[in-house]
Amino acid sequence: MAVVALVAAAGSGERLGRGEPKAFVPCGGRPLLEWSLDVLSGACDRVVVAVPPGYEHGRDRVSGAASRSASVRDALLAAPEAEIVVVHDAARPLVTRELVERCVAAVRDGWEGAVAAVRVTDTIKQAAPGGRVVRTLERASLWSIQTPQAFRAEALRRALDVPDAVLSAATDDASLVEAAGGAVRVIEASPENIKVTSSLDLGLAQTLLRARRGEGPPC
Ligand code: CTP
Ligand code: MG
Repeated sequence: MAVVALVAAAGSGERLGRGEPKAFVPCGGRPLLEWSLDVLSGACDRVVVAVPPGYEHGRDRVSGAASRSASVRDALLAAPEAEIVVVHDAARPLVTRELVERCVAAVRDGWEGAVAAVRVTDTIKQAAPGGRVVRTLERASLWSIQTPQAFRAEALRRALDVPDAVLSAATDDASLVEAAGGAVRVIEASPENIKVTSSLDLGLAQTLLRARRGEGPPC
């Protein structure tokens, strides 16, 4: 089955605040995006990247859209041959080939979606706008969701075929597949697979990548 990776790399990186799109900010001596590309090009048949306007140099680069899921939709349109799709955020440079392969294997086994996830370790409370706690959620069943997220391509195509307003309200692609009735499972991942949002995360990612290359103390 043709496995195509779609990398969401078209965001502006406002919270990181480096004056250039986050995927192109240096991290561990190379643009953040490159770490994910190395892993995904080893694990998948093809990699299509949604980039900000003006960054579409080279093969398999498409112009991203106004929201993350719309960028994923546009990248998927460029991969009509895909039978299994692996969606990944360029903001997660610590993804591993082993994690990608476990997500893909679950889709081969018949799941419509399989998403990298870690168990929640904090207590999670729901609060009203004024701050009053409404309830404390049962932690044992809660997972914090990452990328990669693998899908049967047809299920993702259908799920993304919704108005732009629905796409911009989605915080991941799996929720759209779930809303369309698809069966999605979690795949236990490492908490090391962090998302770079702030400068603190960028520093941590650099430390973890250096440790992985044997250039620093293990964390
Ligand atoms: N992304 C995208 N298209 C968008 C918005 C985001 O492809 N219209 C990508 C980002 O490049 C990132 C991933 O989706 O790899 C997760 O988004 P986020 O962490 O929010 O990144 P940014 O949108 O770049 O950051 P910020 O929200 O701080 O501007
Ligand atoms: Mg964003």
